[in-house]
Amino acid sequence: MEQQKRYGHFDDEHREYVITDPKTPWPWINYLGNEDFFSLISNTAGGYSFYKDAKFRRITRYRYNNVPMDNGGRYFYINDGGAIWNPGWKPCKTPLDFYECRHGMSYTRITGRKNGVEASVLFFVPLKTWAEVQKLTLTNQSNETKTLKLFSFEEWCLWNAATDMENFQRNFSTGEVEIEGATIYHKTEYRERRNHYAFYHVNAEIQGFDTDRETFVGLYNEFSNPDAVMEGKPRNSHAHGWSPIASHYIEVTLQPGESKDFVFLLGYIENEQDKKFSAPQVINKEKAHALIARFDTTEKVDKAFAELNAYWDALLNIYKVRTGNDKLDRMVNIWNQYQCMVTFNFSRSASFFESGIGRGMGFRDSNQDLVGFVHQIPSRARQRIIDIASTQFPDGGCYHQYQPLTKRGNNDIGGGFNDDPCWLIFGTVAYIKESGDFSILDEMVPFDNQPGSEVTLFEHLKVSLNHVINNLGPHMLPLIGRADWNDCLNLNCFSWDPNESFQTTENVSEGTKAESLMIAGLFVVTAKEYVKLCDKIAKHEEGERMQKAIDAMIEAVKKHGWDGEWYLRAYDFYGRKIGSNECDEAKIFIESQGWCTMAEIGADEGMVAKSLDSCKKYLECEHGMVLNNPAFTKYIYEYGEISSYPEGYKENAGIFCHNNPWVIIGECLAGRGNDAWSHYAKILPSYVEEKYQTLHKVEPYVNCQMVAGKDAFRPGEGKNSWLTGTAAWMWYTVSEFILGIKPDYDGICIDPCLPETATDYTVQRKFRDADYDITIHPNGQQKGVKQIVLDGTPIEGTVIPYSSGHHTVEVTM
Ligand code: BGC
Ligand code: NOJ
Repeated sequence: MEQQKRYGHFDDEHREYVITDPKTPWPWINYLGNEDFFSLISNTAGGYSFYKDAKFRRITRYRYNNVPMDNGGRYFYINDGGAIWNPGWKPCKTPLDFYECRHGMSYTRITGRKNGVEASVLFFVPLKTWAEVQKLTLTNQSNETKTLKLFSFEEWCLWNAATDMENFQRNFSTGEVEIEGATIYHKTEYRERRNHYAFYHVNAEIQGFDTDRETFVGLYNEFSNPDAVMEGKPRNSHAHGWSPIASHYIEVTLQPGESKDFVFLLGYIENEQDKKFSAPQVINKEKAHALIARFDTTEKVDKAFAELNAYWDALLNIYKVRTGNDKLDRMVNIWNQYQCMVTFNFSRSASFFESGIGRGMGFRDSNQDLVGFVHQIPSRARQRIIDIASTQFPDGGCYHQYQPLTKRGNNDIGGGFNDDPCWLIFGTVAYIKESGDFSILDEMVPFDNQPGSEVTLFEHLKVSLNHVINNLGPHMLPLIGRADWNDCLNLNCFSWDPNESFQTTENVSEGTKAESLMIAGLFVVTAKEYVKLCDKIAKHEEGERMQKAIDAMIEAVKKHGWDGEWYLRAYDFYGRKIGSNECDEAKIFIESQGWCTMAEIGADEGMVAKSLDSCKKYLECEHGMVLNNPAFTKYIYEYGEISSYPEGYKENAGIFCHNNPWVIIGECLAGRGNDAWSHYAKILPSYVEEKYQTLHKVEPYVNCQMVAGKDAFRPGEGKNSWLTGTAAWMWYTVSEFILGIKPDYDGICIDPCLPETATDYTVQRKFRDADYDITIHPNGQQKGVKQIVLDGTPIEGTVIPYSSGHHTVEVTM
């Protein structure tokens, strides 16, 4: 194996990933903020901030597709007698004597050293605060007195990230700022309909400032060599129109060994309509002053940082495993859970692959995300379920996406993705099992946010499954609509026009016969859960009704969905098979193997085992399982976007990490622990980190959506990191199916599925008001719990009944 260059390493004790070379193969980013105010920050301090919605409330500007990549961020320039550098190396790119970036739980610390000066910046968003704190510590490590010129830098976005990038005829005339002491206020459009503004403050006296970009940078210079910094002289510019920025200028003298802290604060404020101004044209800064006062000393900042760390301690104490395998433990205990929080917060909106403009919260995405997050903060998952369900239509169909700020369904994309409704059951059931809170089912929830249309959430679940039942095709399998989970299998699109969106175009759907085996499996899995739920709440008749629909679906799959060695993927518009041995290309797809094995359809007839074997045989490669095999080599217009991708990328035979766990769960249900583990380890970031940092390119501490598949030009290259359903699915798979700790209505079900080599391990699990210390003795078994001893007494079955307090559990397999 080729020895790959390494750019960093894990520091488990501090729950950090430590980057030691700024020239990572792609920006390696982190997320700051847990509610309302968010920032993205790269390992060189690139990125941006926004309030709630990356499109409508963008606070600082960022240019995607930039050259060089990842230019623009929060930058500190240090001019040390003409040597000009940044602690994060960029944008000046002056070689540093030392560089380190530590990405931790909702914070990032970047440290640079040059010529005996150390600059270390801690970036975080304090809990319940609409601001990013940047605590800069300058230390003179040399033997001589240092006089430094320090410049800060942020560039304002004119709020709407979309129009900010296109409407220049207006934008170049609207920019407005106010300057008050060491605070620069951004108030573009505040004079009219906006009641919000932002500010950038430092808790020190400043010797100058700049607020106009061209004056600060110089029209022919760049972020890497701004005029003001190069000359060591601020311009004290006032932005009117053009591009407003915020830069403080501070002269700092440090004796040998001396250290000074500066707290920079990037804040966001909303004012009531009648309290917008303190004088004509002057913003009311009361709330800003109050916010600044909360963080105006190092002590206050340190306290807020300690609170943030305590918050993460508590979250990560809910599920803690000790297996003795560091690579597994660090993903389960730290990074996988962290990524789940991030995907819950952001859905697929803002990353270095998602512009924050195009997509809001996805219906299916957000339901899946909450399954990875629900154990952390159930109350937030509850609200999310209500928000999502409120965008559903009365017939059970749903908007594919909604905007987080307005919580309204997104008309640009609309609905028609026929898998969407089922995911609401997936999410809701996970919430009730975790929390025990059945009352959510009685919540009154509108359709399409229309007041007066409210029905119970339970009714929403019912119409969701009815939507599948009411939309069956000629083989009694679910009609696919615009697409199912695979957004790119657009069987009714038929597009020859490059200006059409594959996602929203349905040129022919009248008379369609396009059916999805993936939805069939998803339906069986989620409808089975619904039946269990109906039993729990004594809706027996409804449960029976649904059981009949499940039985019929299972029959339909066995009869029309089995290809001999694997499950078919779909039927196309004309009723022809997709994902069959009869096809020229893409003979087998992963999605239907995953869902139909999870649904255990035809297990007795050997279908499940054969399907799982076929995944190993045809889909698996060194880096995971590809989505389909062989890849499409040409565009098939009856299939849509899927065949638009070059071989091995994205939905055309890429390794969609998202759906590998489906097959892994199928393996676990079938009791094949060795196979489950080997699939899992292939896409486990800590294993990839060890072997493939350079090839993989993207952050080695989180999963990415897609790794280039075996047919690709460069197999193993990762893309679309961070915001992917993979996070939740990896979590669900490892926590519930591999390690085998499954929340259930009445307690915790213990049912691990492990490789033979697994040794004894413990899981500490907080569950509602209880604490369980669980020790599992696998005894070389892959599956099958022989005995559970709860607090010294053996119990019947595999469910530990819930009761509050502390419990010890011994499990023998
Ligand atoms: C991507 C999909 C994505 C879809 C969303 C497609 O181009 O390949 O992964 O879900 O766009 O719009
Ligand atoms: C990414 C989307 O966010 C998700 O909803 C979809 O299922 C996958 N791509 C596969 O197309």
